[in-house]
Parts: sequence; structure tokens; C-alpha cells
Amino acid sequence: MLGNFSYSNPTKLYFGDDAISFLKDELKNYGSRVMLTYGGGSIKKNGIYDEVIKALKDAGKEVFEDPGVMSNPTVQKLYEGCRIAKDNDVDLILAVGGGSTIDYAKAVSVSAWCEEDPWDKYYLRMEDVDNRIIPVGSVLTMVGTGSEMNGGSVITNHEQKKKIGHVFGDNVMPKFSILNPKYTFTVLKYQMVAGIYDIFNHICEQYFSGEDDNTSDYLSEALMKSVIHASRIAVKNPEDYEARSNLMWAATWALNTLISKGKTTDWEVHMIGQAIGAYTDATHGMTLAAVSLPYYRHIMPYGLPKFARFAKEVWGIQTEGMGDEAAAEAGLAAMEAWMKEIGVVLSAKELGVTEDMLEGIADATFLLEGGYKTLSRNEVIDIVRASM
Ligand code: NZQ
Ligand code: ZN
Repeated sequence: MLGNFSYSNPTKLYFGDDAISFLKDELKNYGSRVMLTYGGGSIKKNGIYDEVIKALKDAGKEVFEDPGVMSNPTVQKLYEGCRIAKDNDVDLILAVGGGSTIDYAKAVSVSAWCEEDPWDKYYLRMEDVDNRIIPVGSVLTMVGTGSEMNGGSVITNHEQKKKIGHVFGDNVMPKFSILNPKYTFTVLKYQMVAGIYDIFNHICEQYFSGEDDNTSDYLSEALMKSVIHASRIAVKNPEDYEARSNLMWAATWALNTLISKGKTTDWEVHMIGQAIGAYTDATHGMTLAAVSLPYYRHIMPYGLPKFARFAKEVWGIQTEGMGDEAAAEAGLAAMEAWMKEIGVVLSAKELGVTEDMLEGIADATFLLEGGYKTLSRNEVIDIVRASM
């Protein structure tokens, strides 16, 4: 049975190989002072920076640049961005990049005018925003997180060894996002497959929970099938527009709040992945890939019918007469084969996890209750150890 919920999503999307042409008009909705936020320089090499600057100039904007957003953006960078935004009293933050840049832009948007320490307020205490919010728009260049159409904002504090996400509300979600699949052609293969696995796992986190008949689960199965199909084409030919556009669209729908409506969700793979990220600064999607198989094999007995359904509906396995347990195992084996085929990292060791980190990683892992099994601290250690 679907639970009660409200649903809205305020982000306006412009999708396609001409999407950037809408930026100039969209910019008219905001004041003249724009903070241009981007990462380590990929947008200067592939020409996206020039296209964005042209739109900003054509719209008559004064631009305040905020480059250097690193993957897994840090709290130090957040403080720096707040100073740029506040000192220049910007009217809009235009984030051009992947999830890191867009997440960071949302963090700056709620933090620049916040009188308390934003790390303490939003990430440690998980409080709501009660100060001025600077609007955010995005030009997406790397697919995976869904940040372009959600309120998620993940910040890393290396000193405290914590990587924490705050899911902000509609008023913080990007006002608009420009989605041109061609912009993703230059993403390195390692990042591309990490992003693909991130999409897939976002769907798993919302699928492996609940025992009822729920429309969300059918939507999830369709999205998973599309991701698997498109990923196989994209790893062979990264410039296949059809595959890259389907991945981009699936990523957005995998985490724009729709498929979680009316049901419980898990998110424990993300909690462990973020803890690994806090210790190693590893690529987000790879942290998820490394722990997924030990995690799902561990919780499988507690959600057998759904894992058997996953085998049949997502992987097309003829499960009739197999029994739930054998079917469930076959589904995870098919998932493992696909993960190997596209080339994700399956070992936490490869991401830099060492035995002496295990206790700390377990301490940094939030234990959530929405999935088929609530883990204990020791189970987290067992799962990470199994992935080494
Ligand atoms: O910094 P630049 O030079 O731009 O390079 C980036 C970066 O090195 C590069 N890149 C991006 N677009 C490119 C490109 N390289 C060539 N051509 C392009 N068109 O790709 C690298 C990775 O980018 P990044 O933004 O770090 O990756 P991703 O999109 O995976 O974002 C990861 C962050 O998002 C958080 C993660 O925890 C992590 O901090 N997440 C955010 C979520 C949300 N908002 O809901 C949910 C996710 O589960 C996730 O936790
Ligand atoms: Zn993710």
C-alpha cells in the first residue's frame, strides 16, 4: 500500500544538445550578479566554460568566478565560497559541473547568509534553513548523482573524518538545470562508470525495501533496465548520444524524489560508502560499488521475495521453479557480472581502505532503519572487510 505523501519538484529542466541556448533567457529571471561555480578545470578544456560565459555576457551579467570545487567538496571550500557569495552579494549561483559542484553550490546558497557555522547547523545538527537562500541554477556536465533535480548536498569534513549529506527542501533545489548529454562525452571512463553505478545504486536503495505492491518498484525496474542497457553501449562507445542521453535522464529520475514516494527506503550502501569516502576521498560511485555485493548478499535473506523479483524483472532470469533463494542469488550474480563488465571497483582495498580504518569507518556510518535489515556496527565492519 502506498503511504501518504506530498509531491512537488520545482526544478525546471532544459534537455538536449541545444539546451544551453535556453540559459540566456533563464538568466533574465535573476539579478545581475552571478557567481559562476565550477570544478578543477574540465569545463575550460572541453569548451563548456566558453559557452556559459557567452550566455552570461549576452544576458548582461556581472560574473564572480568561484573555481576549484573538488570532488567530494570540503567544508573549507564551503567557507571560501560563502565569502565570495556574501562579499559580492550575488543574486544567483550558477554551478557548472557534476554532483560535487552542484551539491557545493546548494551548500553555499544556504550558508552564505547563515550566522552560525553551516557545518554544525546543516550537517551535524541537520537543522532547517532559516536565513536568506541564494538561488542556484546548474549546467550538468557529469551524470550520476541526480543533484541537478534534488535537494541533496554532500559535504566532507576531513578533519572530523565525516562525509555527510543534507537533503534540503524545494526552496534549495536548483531553480533550473541545463542537461546536454554531449557535455558528458569528455568524462573519463572511470568517472563515467562510477556515475553509472551511482545511478543504479540510487534505484536499489529505493527498491530493496518494503514488501507491498508499490508503483515505485515498477518504475524502479524500468529505470534499472534502461541503465543496464545504456551502460553496455556507453562503455563501448562513450560518444553514443542515445546511450548517454538515456543515462542522463535515468540519473535525474533515479534521485529526483519521485520513486521514493509512498514507500520506505534503505540508503545503507550510501551510508557505508560515505564513511569510506570520509577516510579515503575515493570516487563516490566506486565506494558504493565496492560494498554493494557484500551488503546485498548479507541482507538478502531478510528480503528474499524482492531479491527474487529483481532477478526475474530486472535481469530477465527464468526463475520459475527455482525457489526464492536460488532466484535471489542468481539475480545478484547477474548484477555482479554486469558490474565487472562495465568495470566498477569491487574492492574497498583498491579504494585505499586498510584494516586499521575499519573501526573508524564503522563509527562514521549512520545505521538506518528503512531497509530489510538494520545493521549493527559489527555488521558494517564485516561488510567492509568482505569487500577488501
Ligand atoms: O572538477 P572537474 O575538472 O570538472 O572534473 C570533474 C571531476 O574530476 C570531472 N568532470 C565532470 N564533468 C566533466 C568532467 N571531466 C570531463 N568532462 C566533463 N564533462 O569528473 C570528476 C567527478 O566529478 P564530480 O562532480 O565529483 O562527480 P559526481 O557527479 O559523481 O559527484 C560526486 C559528489 O556528489 C555527491 C557525492 O557524495 C560526491 O560528493 N552525491 C550527491 C548526491 C545528491 N546531491 O543527491 C547523491 C549522491 O549519492 C552523492 O552522494
Ligand atoms: Zn550516490
